[in-house]
Amino acid sequence: MTTTLTDNAVTFSVTHNPNPASAEARAKILEDPGFGSYFTDHMVTVDWSAAEGWHDAKVVPYGPLQLDPAAAVLHYAQEIFEGLKAYRHADGTIGTFRPEENAKRLQSSARRLALPELPVEIFIESLKQIIAVDADWVPDGVGETSLYLRPFMIGTEAFLGVDAAKEVKYVLIASPAGPYFSGGVKPVDIWLSEDYSRAALGGTGEAKCGGNYAASLEPQQEAYANGCKQVLFLDAESHTYIDELGGMNIMFVFANGELVTPELSGSILHGITRKSILQLAESRGLTPVERRVSIDEWRDGVASGAIREVFACGTAAVINPLAELRSKTFTIPAAPDTAGEVTMGLRAALTDIQYGRAADPFGWVVPLNS
Ligand code: PLP
Ligand code: COI
Repeated sequence: MTTTLTDNAVTFSVTHNPNPASAEARAKILEDPGFGSYFTDHMVTVDWSAAEGWHDAKVVPYGPLQLDPAAAVLHYAQEIFEGLKAYRHADGTIGTFRPEENAKRLQSSARRLALPELPVEIFIESLKQIIAVDADWVPDGVGETSLYLRPFMIGTEAFLGVDAAKEVKYVLIASPAGPYFSGGVKPVDIWLSEDYSRAALGGTGEAKCGGNYAASLEPQQEAYANGCKQVLFLDAESHTYIDELGGMNIMFVFANGELVTPELSGSILHGITRKSILQLAESRGLTPVERRVSIDEWRDGVASGAIREVFACGTAAVINPLAELRSKTFTIPAAPDTAGEVTMGLRAALTDIQYGRAADPFGWVVPLNS
């Protein structure tokens, strides 16, 4: 039977996993979850069809999806996703961070890939539903662990013509997470891709779609081969200005008190961590500036001391200091105050809000448990 969802009737059926992980097995995973390798006992699915709209919202045991081999996503990459985290607070609250922003970004990614927009209410309710069944999987927050939530949407219709999907599945899975980079929060070296672009104007750089990440894998391999943990992309037109990293935005701390980040030029993901840090910066006496930053400015700024610190930011990475930039033809050494006061101060301010250790003056934290 189909249960159609309307804005005021978002009901999920719940089927509990008959074989959940044992408390011991779960505790062992939560001790050192790493990033992205373990999954909780349940997942959420909601279907959409052009004929029925959003319907059949379910919480079901975590497990493989059944897809027709002709499903659109397998051929033309009709896939978009989000990433956010659930944090355990000392008072028992399980909070998440600015989920409406993720819901709205999923909608804008959907528009770009001609997928249907999931209503914000269904998105937020799906987060609450997974926490209702898998709350024990939210780590205790010691060592900055959290439950990473991965909502995604795929075109499921069996049709080999290239067209907007008429059948779609929204899925939410959850994965306990420690630091994104193995080795913890330490400055990482990054690789500048001179041969590849991540996104061009008019392309899909602003959408959080799987294809962008598939295209980043070859340059990411190059980064690993050169001892770097992330790859940096320049603008596709002039190969002069900094766009972003493969999975994070980038920020520069200047000696004059400016916190500078590349402007949203049309090919950069509108990072929610980026936006939040720009707001926090202002309240910490820094001057947030969004403008173009060239690779030459980075090189000269580090050499002259005008740039003091450089860091990456994103949900998975939080705030991570960056060290050396390497490329095939040159190297920019680490900025003089790498992992310095501003980077680490912003990091502490952000995570204190996320983990409920500090007041939340911006109203960013949304509780997911009742
Ligand atoms: N840029 C890219 C390419 C990303 O994949 C991410 C991660 O989601 C970000 C930036 C940071 O975005 P957010 O802070 O919303 O996680
Ligand atoms: C996130 O930060 O949530 C992302 O999706 C980035 C990815 C590199 C894990």
